[in-house]
Amino acid sequence: MFDLIIKNANLPDGRSAIDIACKDGRIAAVEMAITAEAGEIIDADNRLVSPPFVDPHFHMDATLSLGNPRMNVSGTLLEGIALWGELKPLQSVEEIVERALRYCDLAVAMGLGAIRSHVDTCDDELKGVQALLQVRDQVKDYIDLQLVAFPQDGVLRDPTAMANTVKALDMGVDVVGGIPHFERTMADGAESVRLLCEIAAERGLMVDMHCDESDDPHSRHIETLAYHTQRLGLQGRVAGSHLTSMHSMDNYYVSKLIPLMVEAGVNAIPNPLINIMLQGRHDTYPKRRGQTRVRELRDAGITVGFGSDCVMDPWYSMGTADMLDVAFMGLHVGQLSSRDDMAWCFDAVTENSARIMGLDGYGLDVGRAANMVLLQAQDKIEAVRLRAHRLAVIRHGKVIAQNPPIRTDLSLPGRPEALDPAAYAPKAGGA
Ligand code: FE2
Repeated sequence: MFDLIIKNANLPDGRSAIDIACKDGRIAAVEMAITAEAGEIIDADNRLVSPPFVDPHFHMDATLSLGNPRMNVSGTLLEGIALWGELKPLQSVEEIVERALRYCDLAVAMGLGAIRSHVDTCDDELKGVQALLQVRDQVKDYIDLQLVAFPQDGVLRDPTAMANTVKALDMGVDVVGGIPHFERTMADGAESVRLLCEIAAERGLMVDMHCDESDDPHSRHIETLAYHTQRLGLQGRVAGSHLTSMHSMDNYYVSKLIPLMVEAGVNAIPNPLINIMLQGRHDTYPKRRGQTRVRELRDAGITVGFGSDCVMDPWYSMGTADMLDVAFMGLHVGQLSSRDDMAWCFDAVTENSARIMGLDGYGLDVGRAANMVLLQAQDKIEAVRLRAHRLAVIRHGKVIAQNPPIRTDLSLPGRPEALDPAAYAPKAGGA
């Protein structure tokens, strides 16, 4: 007797007509035609069942603050940072908690199971840290929240940022962050990378830096990050977020840089929605896209996960916690249009991001946590194309969010009575 069986599922690896049985919060069987009884049975009806979406880069202390105290008029990263600096002294721990919890409700509804959120440590009261530590605990039964100590104003540029960042780690923040391109000089940026990587090495923590979020091709802190990752033996535990300057770098230099990143086992986290919105703002035409070299990084063997970064905050007015929106944008901006590439974009918001976050027990194998999402799509490509509707979100073997399938009734002479957006996928052949 199982707690839950999902029948007739298509899996991300291409298997179809699979049943997934859950018991005591874990996946107990993944095979065809399970006949045992269960407390609840869901018929997936040949739709995709995936492990949950994973957002490897977010700012939960800023989310849903749009318009407070004013809007970002220029649309630039730098005005966003200035605006956030105006908001910080005005908000309370309780307000941050309330916004973060509302965002987590939305995230669950959209099938997100894990989020890595940066939390600003440039605040002597550490209000964001206090708030998100509380939220991490409060949501742990339905979302794995991993926190990054993020000195938004520069760990060297801001006079108390280093002490506050260390304090945040002492309080229980999980990962060491940084923002080398925002330090006063290139030299300070490089020094910040050294200092922060050493802190991570001493404490046995992961590193995730906002790195080279700039159109300046000479912003090369990723080189320094790769160097210290290797020097300190942090391979596999370090991520460079954004890496947008790579878009504008000289090709010859990149031909040296990517192998250095591979050697160091540095992971990459582009944020397609934000990168296409914020980068290239100083350009006339042609206007740069700003997204890092996703295809080249991936093809070199680097783990690439797409993050959402922002939802309705000083940097970005849009967003619905939909990681398929993120994948969709990453696909377009990166021109990732072959069938393998499109399917890979789904992996970039699921298993790749889980690997970067070091999530234990992620995936649909027997013995893993019974966390998954049923989508109104047959496969990964269709899920991205449709930004597919979430039919059921399952956590530890229990349904925690559900929706009826989308269907539009039609009144057209001689045409079908209803339209199912997920019924349009041709049976694809070839790559
Ligand atoms: Fe960010």
